[in-house]
Formats: sequence, structure tokens, C-alpha cells
Amino acid sequence: MTGDEIREKFLSYFERNGHKRVHSSPLLPANDPTLLFVNAGMNQFKDVFLGNETRDYKRAVTAQKCIRAGGKHNDLDEVGKTARHQTFFEMLGNFSFGDYFKEDAIKFAWELMLDEFKLPLDRLWFTYFEGDDEVPADTEARDLWIKMGAAPDRVLPFGRKDNFWQMADVGPCGPNTEISYYMGDDPGDPEKNSAYWVNGPGDTTIEFWNLVFMQYNRTQNDDGSFSLTHLPAPSVDTGMGLERITTIMQHVTTNYETDLLRPLVEFAASLA
Ligand code: SER
Repeated sequence: MTGDEIREKFLSYFERNGHKRVHSSPLLPANDPTLLFVNAGMNQFKDVFLGNETRDYKRAVTAQKCIRAGGKHNDLDEVGKTARHQTFFEMLGNFSFGDYFKEDAIKFAWELMLDEFKLPLDRLWFTYFEGDDEVPADTEARDLWIKMGAAPDRVLPFGRKDNFWQMADVGPCGPNTEISYYMGDDPGDPEKNSAYWVNGPGDTTIEFWNLVFMQYNRTQNDDGSFSLTHLPAPSVDTGMGLERITTIMQHVTTNYETDLLRPLVEFAASLA
């Protein structure tokens, strides 16, 4: 599949499942002083998550242009060091605004990955939030992956850095569950295809989809401290890196070899 076909497959899968196809917003956020550039698909829905705005749909799907070159989500320092980081990329996402929650988000993800994209299950790893003083462990997400058919030893707990998502210092946030893909040559070898590589060094596994369970709003108090309050309705915000899933499905090893980016590299090379 070409990158364009992968994008379309994602959008049309969620459209068939009751999601409104919404256009990417511009890269400059409207009315949001907390962000310089749009850094995630959920930005244009921030006020919907917070309950300040309603739309005539409760489910949406987008392919959002994003820049991560500063601020809370800064990939600039990783570009060129890993095979998978870019400062400008497209994020595929499905969203629920107080409609479905963890169970259906995980069911949709499972069906899309295995039945539509036909990803091999023995290359997939799943992570969930292990909990801390502020937010409890998301064992519900762990149990749902196992119920869908994931092997229990491939569903791993991680801390705040990997499994709790917020777009900026303040705003809607929540625990998340991520899916990583083993990129190595021998998925049947438990030494090579091991838990060590998940969120580990290098590109042996790459994280390509993040399912955030939006449950909280983080706000800053007058004394500079932060508080967490519950959102009006539990919601879902997911983000799949289009260039990363294309790397996986085109059996190449870096984003730059996909048909999305290779022509740009070749063009620059021809000028050089
Ligand atoms: N907001 C989450 C992220 O950017 C999921 O879309 O990873």
C-alpha cells in the first residue's frame, strides 16, 4: 500500500464506524496561547474535550499535520539519531467526545491493525500506565488487550514519560496505551523480539500508535502548582504516525525510505 492508501484506509475505517471525517487544522493553532504550533490531532478539539464547545458529532477521524520542534513535545533533538522521528509529520487519529471509551477504542485499534492492515500479532507490543501517587494504574487497558487476544507477557507497564499524555503544561490529559512494532528480522526469537526493546534504545521496536484516555484537565494555580480535575466526560484521543505505519507496512527501515518521503530525499539529492 502507498502512504496515501494507508491514510485513506485509516480514515475510511473509522468513517464506516460512525466517525465524522474532519479536515486537518492549520499548523497555527487558533485561539490557544499555550501552543506555538499544532503538535497533535487533538488540538483542534481541545475545547470539545474540556466541555467548552459542542459539535454536531461525537466521533471524529482526522489526518492532522503536526510540528514537534519545541515545547512539551519536542522531537527536534531526535531527528537523524533515530529512524522514526520527524519535526513535521502527519498524525492519524480517531476521537470520541464523551461517546465510546477504553473498550471500544481498543476494539477498533485491534480490528484495524489485524484485519485491515494485517499486521502480524507476534510483532506487536502493548503498554499501559503503571500508576503513581496522582493517577492509578490503568489495569483496565491491560486487561482489555489481553481479552482481545494479546499475550499477557506482551502487555507491559510504563510510567508517566511513556504512558501519560498531555499536550502542554496545562490542558486535557490522561493515561494512554501504546502499540509498538518489532522491526527486527526474527519475530520468533524471544531473545531478539524481547520486552527489553519496547521504549528501549534504537529502532528495534517502534511505537506507532498512542491511544489516550482523556479523563483529566491539568490547570495551574496562582502559586504556580498544578491541579488535576476530571473532565466532564471521559473521551478518547488517538494518534498514529502516518510515516511510521508506512515504514512498517512498506517493510523499510526508516521513515525516509517510504514513498511519502523518499521522493523529497531523491529530489534534494539530485540538486546536490
Ligand atoms: N495526543 C496523543 C499524541 O499526540 C494521541 O493522539 O500522541
